[in-house]
Amino acid sequence: MNVIFMGPPGAGKGTQAEKIVSEFQIPHISTGDAFRLAMSQGTPLGIEAKGYVDKGLLVPDEITNGIVRERLAQQDCEKGFLLDGFPRTIAQADALGEIVQSLNKKIEHVINLKVDRSFLLARLTGRRICKSCGATYHVIFNPPKQSDICDKCSGELYQRSDDTEEKVGTRLDEYTNKTAPLLDYYNKREILREVNGEQDIHAVTQQISSLLRGLA
Ligand code: AP5
Ligand code: ZN
Repeated sequence: MNVIFMGPPGAGKGTQAEKIVSEFQIPHISTGDAFRLAMSQGTPLGIEAKGYVDKGLLVPDEITNGIVRERLAQQDCEKGFLLDGFPRTIAQADALGEIVQSLNKKIEHVINLKVDRSFLLARLTGRRICKSCGATYHVIFNPPKQSDICDKCSGELYQRSDDTEEKVGTRLDEYTNKTAPLLDYYNKREILREVNGEQDIHAVTQQISSLLRGLA
């Protein structure tokens, strides 16, 4: 099963991806995670990406497409994959079409997590992430049992550098201008499915899971 998760920053793509890849046993490919890992390691890719990510701007298409091209060719993607945060522009969607075609695959489902902009600032500024295992929490909506400590691995929780009010504003504008047009792009190809991402986390997971199992 080859799936894309779409939705604005803070819609819940990463949170839901964690659960869905565990149920369907497919790799989770997040371009945002790939950039953050490269940034933390100080690689040339990380240094270049940092200039964009820290401002809340999209990283140029050629860089991002290259990462996905390499990743989808790996063997663990044979059984399927979940793309989270890619594509984000029409040019990226066109590139993805070419990549999957060259690998004799196709995108089967595009799940759009629909959440009103008014929810997103609180979700993003309250987000905390585990330094060790990457699990995502929220100080109010999904708090860890012990403040600032991961329930799963006891790792330390941190706040992303782009989760400030000012950068969230830029990220939401980037989404509206460059990414939202992709909904029409995939709707025309009849693979877009919408899920109400304003429900609680468990209800959203159940809805996505039913859709992907063909039960909805
Ligand atoms: P990326 O890491 O992809 O960030 P994003 O798209 O902005 O999405 P987020 O990770 O912020 O949100 P999410 O939808 O995953 O929400 P989450 O589940 O964590 O990209 C970061 C940057 O990298 C970009 O700005 C860009 O610079 C660069 N980049 C990445 N991909 C790129 C590309 N393709 N092209 C160019 N540049 C690229 O949830 C958020 C919070 O809400 C959490 O605290 C969670 O606990 C809580 N929450 C989740 N669901 C619910 C719910 N149902 N109810 C209540 N709370 C909830
Ligand atoms: Zn952890």
